[in-house]
Amino acid sequence: MQPVEICKNIFWIGVNDDRTELFEGLWPIKQEGISYNSYLIKGAKTVLIDLCKDLFQEKYLASLKTLTDPSKIDYLVVNHMEPDHSGALRAFREVAPQAVILTTQKAVKMLVDFFGIKEAVRVVADGETLDLGSHQLKFITAPMVHWPETMMTCETSTGILFSCDAFGGFGKLTNGIFDEDYSDLSFYEKESLRYYANIVAAFSKPVLNAGEKLAGLNISMVAPSHGLVWRKDPSRIIKLYLQWSEYGKGKAQKGVTLLHSSMYGNTGRMALSVRKGLEEAGIPLDVFDVTATHPSYILPSLWVNQGVAIGAPTYEGSLFPTMAQVLSMAEFKRVFHKDAIYFGSFGWGGGATRYLNAQFEKMKWQLLETLEFPGEPKPETLVQAVEFGKRFGERIKSL
Ligand SMILES: Cc1cc2nc3c(=O)[nH]c(=O)nc-3n(C[C@H](O)[C@H](O)[C@H](O)COP(=O)(O)O)c2cc1C
Ligand SMILES: [Fe+2]
Ligand SMILES: [Fe+2]
Repeated sequence: MQPVEICKNIFWIGVNDDRTELFEGLWPIKQEGISYNSYLIKGAKTVLIDLCKDLFQEKYLASLKTLTDPSKIDYLVVNHMEPDHSGALRAFREVAPQAVILTTQKAVKMLVDFFGIKEAVRVVADGETLDLGSHQLKFITAPMVHWPETMMTCETSTGILFSCDAFGGFGKLTNGIFDEDYSDLSFYEKESLRYYANIVAAFSKPVLNAGEKLAGLNISMVAPSHGLVWRKDPSRIIKLYLQWSEYGKGKAQKGVTLLHSSMYGNTGRMALSVRKGLEEAGIPLDVFDVTATHPSYILPSLWVNQGVAIGAPTYEGSLFPTMAQVLSMAEFKRVFHKDAIYFGSFGWGGGATRYLNAQFEKMKWQLLETLEFPGEPKPETLVQAVEFGKRFGERIKSL
């Protein structure tokens, strides 16, 4: 993609990644893609903000060179050391050895550890400003959004916030880089939530801390390092992120995520009846067959909904492993404080609820009700399941 001027003398230089199967080796992005956004300020001084993944460094540097001679760049701001932004650092240093790296104290050791870089590194402190003559930079540390060394940079004369991972999202940029280029933002908002639930969720408290720090700034544009540049309505993505972060404390939306899995169809038939009951209750509902869906797509729903209905059989004295894996990933991402019900078939002694009780204690989930049955669900069990789903839906609705 060609560079884009986002405001006078400030440019977006980015690449769309449509080659990586799994972001961080974990999260599917082959369909949706992701962008690595970097920014160039051309004024009395020339400043580059963040880079991109090494896989795309040649394309990226070619793009950069259409705007400036790299040997003229005065500073490189390294907001974050994760290699999706810093991967091109070695290649960049070869063409711009004079550029002084501006970064946090915590990034200094990482620069040595990841790239062997010690020279021309200048540490900036939280709240520090740098007067570039034509532009002013303010550095705002944002520890654990996403790593301990992470910061954001604000160009205070224009109010552009270069927020790095914060306010970012999956989804390559197809018809433009700005929010205003899309009449329907649902794809990018959905992918921002998936990115949040997959990458940022475990750090919801640090996001809220960072949000408080931004309150004093007059932000005119949010320019993250993944996804859209929010120029028309920067408050939209900030509000969404802060709302999602609040859910980390509990009390999420009045909605239910129904997760089901079944080896031989017994629990599967029950899931249809539980679903019917939930629909009768009129509660917003997301349904996932966990054996057919990557957890990346389930986590966003778990994050925003207060209620979770789990249907899975007993397997070797425990919960069906695919379901246990989803719950374990949810625990990893700190999807805490949910209200849940469980239903499932067993053959002899059961064991799924034993597993769930232990797992939910770790996740601070309340197990409100269970409906276990041996073998196939009998007609009366299916009737019971409809009521069971309906009761739960009504309860979540009334929260
Ligand atoms: C590999 C395997 C392990 C199982 N382990 C247990 C078990 O430890 N305890 C138990 O009560 N039932 C166990 N069962 C029986 C299942 O829970 C039972 O067949 C149930 O009806 C399967 O539900 P589904 O049709 O929804 O897959 C096991 C079944 C399989 C295939
Ligand atoms: Fe990151
Ligand atoms: Fe990132």
